[in-house]
Amino acid sequence: MHQKKLQTLKMSMQRVVFAVFFLSLALMASSAQVVTYIFGDSLTDVGNNNFLEYSLAKCDYPWYGIDYNGGQATGRFTNGRTIGDIISEKLGISSPPPYLSVPQNTDALLKGVNYASGGAGILNDTGLYFIQRLSFDDQINYFKKTKEAISTKIGDEAANRHCNKAIYFIGIGSNDYINNFLQPFLPDGEQYTPDEFTELLLSTLDQQLTTLYQLGARKMVFNGLGPLGCIPSQRVKSKTGQCLDQVNIWIRQFNSKLQKLIKTLNNRLPSAKLIYADTYPSVLELIDNPTAYGFKVSNTSCCNVDTSIGGLCLPNSKLCSNRHDYVFWDAFHPSDAANVVLGDKFFSSLFPPAPSPAPGPSPAPGPSPAPGPSPAPGPSPAPGPSPAPGSSP
Ligand SMILES: *[C@@H]1O[C@H](CO)[C@@H](O)[C@H](O)[C@H]1NC(C)=O
Ligand SMILES: *[C@@H]1O[C@H](CO)[C@@H](O)[C@H](O)[C@H]1NC(C)=O
Repeated sequence: MHQKKLQTLKMSMQRVVFAVFFLSLALMASSAQVVTYIFGDSLTDVGNNNFLEYSLAKCDYPWYGIDYNGGQATGRFTNGRTIGDIISEKLGISSPPPYLSVPQNTDALLKGVNYASGGAGILNDTGLYFIQRLSFDDQINYFKKTKEAISTKIGDEAANRHCNKAIYFIGIGSNDYINNFLQPFLPDGEQYTPDEFTELLLSTLDQQLTTLYQLGARKMVFNGLGPLGCIPSQRVKSKTGQCLDQVNIWIRQFNSKLQKLIKTLNNRLPSAKLIYADTYPSVLELIDNPTAYGFKVSNTSCCNVDTSIGGLCLPNSKLCSNRHDYVFWDAFHPSDAANVVLGDKFFSSLFPPAPSPAPGPSPAPGPSPAPGPSPAPGPSPAPGPSPAPGSSP
């Protein structure tokens, strides 16, 4: 009981920190274009893997993209938009292009780039059996190259300022569990206890985020992991189709240690503003109460996938009759409709609808000495590209 209260208090304080930070983003957005650099896995890949000739983590075929603007596969691992696309729409910018599609010496590098790659993880060897993918280390190396190209173009000092001002969205770690630790035929699950594995992930992440900081990143939003024990690819391992509680317990442990790491980094790295985005409860809520959000099914995917051969939606797979009814598109990835709900939720927690006078006990101990935010401009409906027409059959 007492602990629960503490937990609630902690959560609401986090929300305050979250809100304060994004308030300043909103103000920035009004004066200048927000520039974002995105790092991650298949949840945010917008086409990098299309450029990796031998990668097995690909979705450049139907029915991926069926609800995307144009109805074609783009390399996004869903039927429509990723959460990153939704966030970009709300920021009023176009979704940053895949890094591998952008020529090295163009101004496009200055407008934001997406390095995310399906199958990637925090560890180098995660996703090994996909042959090719950009690990988080690879993605950071490409960001280093990006910065070098920007320096060549506008000079070192301006490049530093540019990188300091940009926002970095990072969502990685799911594959370290799903496609590494939890795979019985890979060594990591044998070699490490769950605790040791989590420690390995976090000490690696510590170095990686520190490197990003050294390259100029200051405002980093790190997405915690979702309840992976409840995604269709894991449910099928239970005889009754239930969530795998043990997996969810490990994920919650990872998330809680990740929050500590982020706090440590904010203390250690001057003017760093790392934010932990609490994905887990929002996704679980959608899975537990699908009908409250207009969905009908959350325990299996719209695309009738074969989890024994990978769980992706293949051209000969059968689709559900109404794609808006399903939280999951394939065995791993949320549908466009679910991403819209999650993106909206994410955003409205960042931009509280009214400038609520925070009833907090004292100024939020946030990492950012927020420069006295003037009245919140509210959740301005960003004039971004309008949503894809999302034609469902
Ligand atoms: C992972 O790969 C990168 C190069 O992509 C390398 O710099 C790094 O040392 C590797 N890390 C480990 C633990 O092998
Ligand atoms: C999903 O839940 C429904 C309703 O509770 C149930 O009838 C169905 O068998 C479940 N499907 C799977 C794959 O577990």
